[in-house]
Amino acid sequence: MDFHLLAVGDVVADGGLDCLRRHLRPLQKTYDVHFTVVNGENAAGLGLLPHHAEEIFAAGADVITLGNHTWGKRQILDTLEDNPYLLRPANFAPNLPGRGFGVYEGPRGLRIGILNLMGRFELDSNLDSPFQVADRILAGEGAEADLLFVDFHAEATSEKGAMGWYLDGRVQGVWGTHTHVPTADPQVLPQGTGFVTDLGMTGPAQSILGVKPENSVARFLGQLPRRYEAAGGPNKLGAVLFTIDTDTGRCRSVTRVDREDPRP
Ligand code: FE2
Repeated sequence: MDFHLLAVGDVVADGGLDCLRRHLRPLQKTYDVHFTVVNGENAAGLGLLPHHAEEIFAAGADVITLGNHTWGKRQILDTLEDNPYLLRPANFAPNLPGRGFGVYEGPRGLRIGILNLMGRFELDSNLDSPFQVADRILAGEGAEADLLFVDFHAEATSEKGAMGWYLDGRVQGVWGTHTHVPTADPQVLPQGTGFVTDLGMTGPAQSILGVKPENSVARFLGQLPRRYEAAGGPNKLGAVLFTIDTDTGRCRSVTRVDREDPRP
């Protein structure tokens, strides 16, 4: 069969949540989506609260992944411990709350493994190597899954590319998150892994990475740092569809399926 996984980019603030609510179910229907992974680490700006996680699940996410702002809202710690469908990067220190990998039920008894990792370059040098952690998980718990997918939350396009190629032939799909700008390079790598450098975000279209432009511009002009606020206005949803041939385990296609609200 063809298995369809939809990966949705970082949901930013209330505008992003509203956009997700309006567009996700129609997208799932249009593309006959079997499994949906949404990055939710910016739902509260920096981090997410338990009610944001509930709203993202209610909008249609099967699994929520996170990233460098995982600990931005401490109120999420209990949910990270209790809800196996909420993942944080697996290469944080092992004593921290939550988990970075899970195996979930898919169609026709398929077991779907989702791995959340975070890059180190220009982001957090104190993490364990995401490459070594991927090796360890794929050799251990990952063996229980029929299909494996990785959300690699990282700053550098080079590090994201390295992860895609490192895992080529060992997982069905790798996508990047965090930079909030969709990249135009969806592709199937030589050994059959689907890859895209970044999904883009789900949030304010007229913004700098989701933030009010004046906040970000002021910082680059050398003015006193001010609190970043989410921009208003129309929203867009960044998403990529992975189609997997379950007989061969190879990715057939990787396609951008972005949605954007009309601009005034
Ligand atoms: Fe991030």
